[in-house]
Amino acid sequence: MNVLVIGNGGREHALVWKIARSPKVDKVYCAPGNAGIAEVAECVDLPPSDLEGLVRFAYRKKIDLTVVGPEAPLVAGIVDAFEAQGLAIFGPSRKAAEIEGSKAFAKHLMQRYKIPTARYAVFTDPGEASEYVKREPVPIVVKADGLAAGKGSIVCRTHEEALQAIQQIMVERIFGRAGERVVIEEFMVGEEASILAITDGERMVVMPPSQDHKPIYDGDQGPNTGGMGAYCPAPVVDAEMLERVRREILEPAIRGMALEGRSYRGCLYAGLMITEVGPKVVEFNCRFGDPETQAVLPTIDEDLVPLLEGAAAGKLPQEGILESRRWAVCVVMASGGYPGPYEKGKVIQGLDRPFPEDVIIFHAGTSREKGQLVTSGGRVLGVTGLGATISEAIERAYWAVGKIVFDGAYYRKDIGQKALRRLRVMAGAGRA
Ligand code: AMP
Ligand code: GLY
Repeated sequence: MNVLVIGNGGREHALVWKIARSPKVDKVYCAPGNAGIAEVAECVDLPPSDLEGLVRFAYRKKIDLTVVGPEAPLVAGIVDAFEAQGLAIFGPSRKAAEIEGSKAFAKHLMQRYKIPTARYAVFTDPGEASEYVKREPVPIVVKADGLAAGKGSIVCRTHEEALQAIQQIMVERIFGRAGERVVIEEFMVGEEASILAITDGERMVVMPPSQDHKPIYDGDQGPNTGGMGAYCPAPVVDAEMLERVRREILEPAIRGMALEGRSYRGCLYAGLMITEVGPKVVEFNCRFGDPETQAVLPTIDEDLVPLLEGAAAGKLPQEGILESRRWAVCVVMASGGYPGPYEKGKVIQGLDRPFPEDVIIFHAGTSREKGQLVTSGGRVLGVTGLGATISEAIERAYWAVGKIVFDGAYYRKDIGQKALRRLRVMAGAGRA
């Protein structure tokens, strides 16, 4: 098979890495890819927004399966464009990708199909939105309806902050047209987790649970980022909880989408809050998570390609829950200043020698300039450590991080600590 992966981040490097290991695959292309991806796949200089160019490329190179990483081309209808030409592609159609493209649509879906989530209201008028928040308890969450690169949700501690968030999103339009509508929702208390499920519109394969680390600083302080690290599996979602997530959230979502005439094929990402009364949805995404994918894929031994191929064709070869065979911890190394302004073009040192098998370096914002590896984005590398225990995986990941140097490199020091704490408490409770 010839496979084309679309995107240029750490998630796409992990997808390319996993797909290239499949005995079914002869050649992997990636558009546009990055310096790390170029070591495993042939990179093609086409941006994910060039739907026509990508269709032409897939046709010309006889691509058997295209796998889409980011949400923007999915929401723009890349799957519809490929399928109109008879090309196999993994991902939801434009109408199905609305589950991420519009938070109001996702909330209505959850309401109609009784999927547990935060209580909410939707507004197109800033005056009405402001009146509403004044009557609601705080904290409260104000979210731009459309895509905002993961930064469209503002958690507000006071009524003043909520009124300011409405002003910024709806009047000043800091997220552009994504702020034409807002979803205002109740603040949920609990621990977050991410669940990825591959579905053909009816059946599904659930991947092991993982946990992202969104805020920039240790201890979950500071502004939100795309994600500063992840680990898998996430002990906050034990087998019983995962079964509840499947029954109460994933199955009704997939059934609901089919009933709405938006049959969902691809990866459905449920961002969850594990609350005292059970799992509740924070958001749905229409794709694999980043950096969750860099932690989830190295823990499973199954060949991903038959699942991607089967989902794209509308007939998944199996269903059920995949098991993690090991622990994985991915530490993101970012450019100094991220998620605010940062400099690019810093030389990256330490990656010329091979790393042991239990370390995988996934590239995100890297490129090659005059033969030198340099930074080219906010999140630069995802360094994944593997182990038989989470402590071992944490130790390997940070050992490898310590070997890599670039000017201004920043990373969180506490990736995986929440899992470690939870496991210790669980072990303590078991002994008692
Ligand atoms: P989102 O853009 O919906 O992924 O939200 C970004 C982050 O804001 C989430 O990962 C949560 O940490 C937080 N968040 C969003 N909605 C809620 C909510 N209803 N209750 C508590 N935290 C939330
Ligand atoms: N890690 C969060 C996301 O992929 O949206």
